[in-house]
Amino acid sequence: MTHDTVITGARVVAASGTTMCDIGITQGQIATLGSALTGTEVIDATGLIALPGGIDSHVHISQPSGPGIEMADDFISGTRAAACGGNTTILPFCLPEDGQTLREAVAAYRKKAEGNCMTDVAFHLIVKQTDPVTLGQDLPALIRAGYTSFKVFMTYAGLALSDRQILDVMAVAKEQNAMVMVHAENEDAIEFLRDRAEREGETGPYHHATTRPIPVEREATHRAISLAEIAGVPLTIVHVSNGEATEEIVRARARGLTVFAETCPQYITLTASDLDRDGFDGAKYVCSPPPRTADEWPKIWAGIEQGTFDLFSSDHCPFRFNDTAGKDAPGARTSFRNIPNGIPGVETRLPILFSEGVVAGRLSLERFAAITATNHARLYGLYPRKGAIMVGADADITLWDPTVTKPIRQHDLHHGSDYTPWEGFEVTGWPVRTILRGKSVMQDGHPVGPPMGEHLERGAPDVQL
Ligand code: URP
Ligand code: ZN
Ligand code: ZN
Ligand code: ZN
Repeated sequence: MTHDTVITGARVVAASGTTMCDIGITQGQIATLGSALTGTEVIDATGLIALPGGIDSHVHISQPSGPGIEMADDFISGTRAAACGGNTTILPFCLPEDGQTLREAVAAYRKKAEGNCMTDVAFHLIVKQTDPVTLGQDLPALIRAGYTSFKVFMTYAGLALSDRQILDVMAVAKEQNAMVMVHAENEDAIEFLRDRAEREGETGPYHHATTRPIPVEREATHRAISLAEIAGVPLTIVHVSNGEATEEIVRARARGLTVFAETCPQYITLTASDLDRDGFDGAKYVCSPPPRTADEWPKIWAGIEQGTFDLFSSDHCPFRFNDTAGKDAPGARTSFRNIPNGIPGVETRLPILFSEGVVAGRLSLERFAAITATNHARLYGLYPRKGAIMVGADADITLWDPTVTKPIRQHDLHHGSDYTPWEGFEVTGWPVRTILRGKSVMQDGHPVGPPMGEHLERGAPDVQL
């Protein structure tokens, strides 16, 4: 059989283990893993690693962010950056605008994405209201239609749900078999600390970090887990930033609870001191939870190495820095409370983890693939079509050069933001080609071809990771 495309010479990180073999691709799917395969197109990948295309299951694109504030990425630039960073699927969140129903929000996001994506896309929901129509009709209907995961917030005015509301939402997840993702920070405690900081004139970007200290996250993590235990549902704690919150997850699992956990590049590479950079530069690093001290990095690494963290995502939430619709929002220089929360990272997630994890000897290639692709596909109902190099799966493959060493530079990136928090950060390893359903969407660092990304139908979460 002659394939449409054959990739030769690569070390293949396949579902069955890492091996030297050819990958035969026909009609966008992996048809054969073997030797001496023939193909109409041959890609010589000698010296490269073939990884399952990255799946970033935590990104924010074109999300309403308050009056006058605009996210730096739409679906064109966000998925372009994702593809250039070695990703073939992203899962952004669907946040209803004020007055919009969840169903209307989903329809609006689908429309924004359609025809504009360089990667495949599937959506999580954000549940910010618990009225009878949302919980009784819209949410169940959307879960049944394949939107099988949603995020709830314990912080942010206008988004945060009370414990009772979270329980009510979890009850719907239980009934419909959906995954609840929780942003765990205690809003009342943050309000208290923020008011006090402002009274004392501590208003610079750094105080975003001091008003969201570790106990704020540890307490909310513990509470979210307890609520899930009471409701009888599995849950995923997203963007875990520190050792104490990680310990809560370890303890919950030891009690037999089904708790999944995600961490992000910022929690192994950035610190709260970055928020204290000269002038207003610290605003570039304002995200929630905030980066901690470097003392927390080994605790997060231990969680990654020991399997506490199932997911390594970017939490890409990009704003421009030199922009009054971004980090320099009205009032941002007089109080950190007005700085939009979030940092860009969809293009740099994989190089940072590869360099700090695989090259540094902390992570095997198999574990790298699991926490950057396979587990995301399993947990969010995309497996086995996505997330692994195996026969029958979509031919979503990232060809990786493990030898190249270079500093991350804004100049080389493709997102809509005007900065990267990792400017000058040196990494070894970079994706050289991203293949989506058999077609190259990035080659040698640049996007190629038309936006061929599709919306993906999803199944139920697979909680047997
Ligand atoms: O600061 C962050 N992470 N903004 C994005 C929204 C969220 O909470 O994930
Ligand atoms: Zn969050
Ligand atoms: Zn987020
Ligand atoms: Zn380019």
